Amino acid sequence: MLWPFAEKDPGICPDYKYYYNLAAGHFFILTINSAIMQNIDWGKLPFGYFQTDYNVRCYYRNGQWGEIEVSSSTHINIHMAATCLHYGQEAFEGMKAYRGKDGRVRLFRWQENARRMQRSADGILMARVPEELFHKMVKKAVSLNEKYVPPHGYGAALYIRPLLIGTGIQVGVNPAKEYLFMVFVGPVGPYFKEGFNPVTMQIVRDFDRAAPLGTGHIKVGGNYAGSLRASERAKAEGYASVIFLEAKEKKYIDEAGPANFYGIKDNTYITPKSDSILPSITNMSLMQIAEDMGMKVERREVAVEELENFEEAGACGTAAIISPIGKIVDRESGKEYTFGKKGQAGAWSTKLYNKLQGIQYGEEPDPHGWVSFVD
Ligand code: PLP
Ligand code: COI
Repeated sequence: MLWPFAEKDPGICPDYKYYYNLAAGHFFILTINSAIMQNIDWGKLPFGYFQTDYNVRCYYRNGQWGEIEVSSSTHINIHMAATCLHYGQEAFEGMKAYRGKDGRVRLFRWQENARRMQRSADGILMARVPEELFHKMVKKAVSLNEKYVPPHGYGAALYIRPLLIGTGIQVGVNPAKEYLFMVFVGPVGPYFKEGFNPVTMQIVRDFDRAAPLGTGHIKVGGNYAGSLRASERAKAEGYASVIFLEAKEKKYIDEAGPANFYGIKDNTYITPKSDSILPSITNMSLMQIAEDMGMKVERREVAVEELENFEEAGACGTAAIISPIGKIVDRESGKEYTFGKKGQAGAWSTKLYNKLQGIQYGEEPDPHGWVSFVD
């Protein structure tokens, strides 16, 4: 514990044990009564924040990364002129830890997340987190909170959120000299409440998520800020998410909200290629799995009109896994595109989903060496 603290009960929730941080002047929760663990309904977890016991942190100062620190505080103490607050020096990752039938906890292609975070850091001039430090901290955050890794068989996982922020002070527009890298975790269910049931999405033309030569290809907070208005409006209009088009010509599909898009026709897996898309590790894996299953794979520009010919469509990502898309509505023209049988995921999407999850949960062979163990 870094600061002086005292156990105090503010009378908020009997399931938590509260402590008061005398130095920072706020309450935090150090332990959760075991009763709350027994009350977790693993099969009904939403995708959202869930407090666990520990997070891990590492500071970059004087040109180097320091020691890994373990914290039980949910708060960070940063200067009001930190660059993450003003100039968007912030990048994050999204990964999951999966518990197999054997009880062991697995990570999926963590190296790809580590490398993508380095590309994000390069893209907005932040200090790179070395791959080994990234791996060590992810493993530590998972093992310290191992009791929150959902048991096998519920389709749930422990979501891992690595976060890199500029903590150094700047008022002029300059990159910071100091950074904080931290990892927190929490158990989650699927991103879309429909789970593996088809969702409806909306094509928008009056908002762009990212500029053609901007930051769409890296995982920085500004891209998500830029997507909020369109996606909240889509939700209010009854859609699960937004399909963003590339910003220059508005002819081709970019992304499906916080996930990549794919379509399937004639045994071919087709997914957009664009400089403003986040290269999804799930999508990269699905392309390989599709090829292994004997499908053809095409990564190329996907014009909106092509939707008419797709037999299946889906959104894919760590949080979304595969979310089959049943219908896409173009908000401007009102044109509707439907895929497969109403209310049912298509045959290829189902096969791809089962294979991907099978590998992630250790139920299927892992021919490409994607899975590693936390212990
Ligand atoms: N696209 C966006 C904009 C995302 O936020 C994510 C999630 O990380 C993805 C795609 C999917 O990427 P991945 O499969 O690596 O999680
Ligand atoms: C993910 O798929 O892991 C994401 O990061 C999506 C999101 C919740 C931003």
